Amino acid sequence: MSISVLVGAQWGDEGKGKMVDYFAQQSDLIVRFQGGDNAGHTVINDYGVFKLHLIPCGVFNKDCQCLIGTGLVVNPDVLFEEMQQIVEAKLSLAGLKISSKAHILMPYHQKLDELMEASGGIGTTKRGIGQAYAYKAMRKSLRFEDLLNLENAKKKLENIVPVVNDQMASYQIEPYTVAGLFEKCQVWAKTFADMIVNPVAYLHEQIDADKNILFEGQLGAMKDIDLGIFPYVTSSNPIAAYAAVSGGFPAKKIDKVIGVAKAFSSAVGAGPFPTEEFGGTIDILRGTGEKPDDEFGARTGRSRRLGWIDIPVLKYTHAINGYDELALCKIDKLDDLPEIKICVDYKLDGKLIKEFPNTEDLEKVEPVYITLPGWLSDTTKIRRLDDLPDNAKKYIKTIEDLVGTTVAYVGVGPDREDLAIR
Ligand code: GTP
Repeated sequence: MSISVLVGAQWGDEGKGKMVDYFAQQSDLIVRFQGGDNAGHTVINDYGVFKLHLIPCGVFNKDCQCLIGTGLVVNPDVLFEEMQQIVEAKLSLAGLKISSKAHILMPYHQKLDELMEASGGIGTTKRGIGQAYAYKAMRKSLRFEDLLNLENAKKKLENIVPVVNDQMASYQIEPYTVAGLFEKCQVWAKTFADMIVNPVAYLHEQIDADKNILFEGQLGAMKDIDLGIFPYVTSSNPIAAYAAVSGGFPAKKIDKVIGVAKAFSSAVGAGPFPTEEFGGTIDILRGTGEKPDDEFGARTGRSRRLGWIDIPVLKYTHAINGYDELALCKIDKLDDLPEIKICVDYKLDGKLIKEFPNTEDLEKVEPVYITLPGWLSDTTKIRRLDDLPDNAKKYIKTIEDLVGTTVAYVGVGPDREDLAIR
């Protein structure tokens, strides 16, 4: 049995969906442990192309259980839509469970997010995620367990709705009513009641039964609310240690941490991004023709900002997450580059810096690059790391040496089997 945690090592969109789909083939349980439907994992396998926002990527293995964990804020309507996608693909949802302690993202969270963004926000996905976490922190929130005791749900709504309407007052919109929201809770109770479990008891049962459990992170460590590029961050902790908080088990029980990194860098939304480049060689990474442009967010459809791989970022997130292994995705996107740059250090005010800087300084740093020769050949059919072209192996070895961990998997295309393994 083992407990593994898979997390994004950069700014999100590293290719975690594909990696979880791969690991799910050997897992008994996959747990989503933070976030909401603000990001999305793209999975391409024999069943089709899926963008999963809430349902763990283990749903494609019929022998694998899936838990939507405690650390999430879940919009039940979005979850229902996503479940329909899975049913339409003729896959079973029998193994899908929801933590009774997961918080419910309500319609007013989304509305507030929309209204605040309209009057100058930070560029959120307008899915209400930050508002749902803010209400959780205010202790004015419903959890899935309240759908099992509707009297409780009603009492909580009576306490919460006046607060919501007060906050909405300046926006001149129709106030929310307890009756309207309670009606929604009644519908959700019918849909989800059978899926709700006590997460701590459930997980410990799985741990005691020696199951292989994988915790699936969303986004990446640079978007962590505490350790990332605040305030351009998400509202949760997409880092390995939070799997234990969300799962309700001792952190020392985590056996393995897998970091997923892209072979270059990409980011969506505002905030510092030291290695960002505009046009020129970097545009080849966007892909055209035979290699279509997939550098846009799975949830937002926004075009991603692109840049070279950033070792200070990977070292910083390795310090936070402690990667036993890295999966380096999208190396195939570098196939056509004659030369590849690696940012190995930052200079601030002309001087090399050792510590990872705060957000304001990160805006100002100057990346220090080394340049390696490209391999100018197709890697998409390669399935063993040893079979990669010499210059690709050199690129990977350089990253391993600089970050101080092992690259055990290399992504050479978007499909489940497009993976070179050590
Ligand atoms: P977030 O939780 O939103 O951060 O998502 P994610 O890390 O799961 O990444 P996402 O699926 O949104 O984006 C990755 C994109 O890269 C998808 O379009 C994948 O199909 C694709 N992809 C994943 N691995 C590879 C790879 O090795 N090569 C290529 N060419 N594409 C890949």
